[in-house]
Amino acid sequence: MQVVKYAFQQHGDARGQLVALEELRDIPFEIKRVYYVYDTSVGVRRGFHSHRTLQQILICIHGSCKVLLDNGKEKKIVSLEKPYEGLYVPQNMWREMYDFTPDAVLMVLASEYYAEGDYIRDYEEFLKTCAGE
Ligand code: TYD
Repeated sequence: MQVVKYAFQQHGDARGQLVALEELRDIPFEIKRVYYVYDTSVGVRRGFHSHRTLQQILICIHGSCKVLLDNGKEKKIVSLEKPYEGLYVPQNMWREMYDFTPDAVLMVLASEYYAEGDYIRDYEEFLKTCAGE
């Protein structure tokens, strides 16, 4: 499995850093939705789903966390530790996020509006989807 991790351009100067993200330029899709996860309780693991069509970029803009990616055949663990790093998560990819530091803010850029019907939350069903590909 190829993990696609972006290192976004940092516009740094003596004042500090700034990262700008533009759809279809820095981000490989039109951004329809942004959400972020924070104040995550110690030991929490979340996600546990794949998406039929949704693509996402995960950016831990503060603190750090880990992401387990699973395409049904192979699993990879990716650490997100820098505010300029983005992890591309395509459709049909099972994901679990964990090891959040108490200060972690995980921001997600999403290619679609929120739609419960796009989720596959059952792992066996996810595996069947992969087998059909
Ligand atoms: P959930 O799917 O459990 O998050 P995770 O995948 O990180 O475990 O979402 C938590 C709640 O937030 C759930 O009630 C659905 C709601 N939600 C929205 O309303 N809009 C969104 O864009 C997202 C991602 C979640």
